[in-house]
Amino acid sequence: MRLILLGAPGAGKGTQASFLCQKYGIPQISTGDMLRAAVKAGTPLGLAAKKVMDAGQLVSDDIIIGLVKERIAEPDCARGFLFDGFPRTIPQAEAMKAAGVKIDCVLEIDVPFAAIVERMSGRRSHPASGRTYHVKFNPPKAEGRDDVTGEPLIQRDDDREETVLKRLDVYSAQTRPLVEYYTEWSRADARNAPKVRKIDGMGTVDEITARALQALADC
Ligand code: AP5
Ligand code: ZN
Repeated sequence: MRLILLGAPGAGKGTQASFLCQKYGIPQISTGDMLRAAVKAGTPLGLAAKKVMDAGQLVSDDIIIGLVKERIAEPDCARGFLFDGFPRTIPQAEAMKAAGVKIDCVLEIDVPFAAIVERMSGRRSHPASGRTYHVKFNPPKAEGRDDVTGEPLIQRDDDREETVLKRLDVYSAQTRPLVEYYTEWSRADARNAPKVRKIDGMGTVDEITARALQALADC
């Protein structure tokens, strides 16, 4: 299975990715997690990316496309993968098409912007695994600790309200048009284009997982 999860910041891509990757036995490729790992490691890429991410802007297409191409060439991607937060611009999607990377399905998780700020302000993350919690909606078993490792959870630097609002603007302008892009492509060339599916992202985490699995059943 080769899958793209599309959705606004805070729509629940990372949360659902954990379940879907387990179910299909595929790796989660989150460009956001890859960039945050580079920031933490203090690499030149990380230093440059941190400023851009903290401003709620997108890192340049060339850098992201290079990172993803390198990642999907690794052996664990042979059976498929899940893209979380990629592609995020038309040029990123075009680069995958040009490289002949066939995608089975694009799944859009739809959450109204009004619900997003609350989700982001309560988010807590376990950076090493990418596991994500919410203090109210999806709390860890022990407060402030990852369920599996017991390690401390962190709050992301880009979850401040003004940055979240900026990220939503950037999503509307640059990423949402991908839904139209994939829909048009699948109309024009249903054999090669991914199937496009959309689910309601409001409800409990389990309800949304069930919707996702149902939407992906014929992919
Ligand atoms: P990235 O890490 O991709 O962030 P994002 O797309 O903004 O998405 P988030 O991770 O914020 O949200 P999510 O949809 O994964 O939601 P989550 O499951 O955590 O990117 C960060 C930055 O990196 C970008 O701004 C950009 O600068 C850069 N970048 C990354 N990729 C790039 C690319 N391809 N090109 C250029 N730049 C790139 O859930 C959110 C919260 O809600 C959690 O607390 C969760 O517990 C809670 N929650 C989840 N489901 C539910 C539910 N059903 N009900 C209630 N709460 C819920
Ligand atoms: Zn995420």
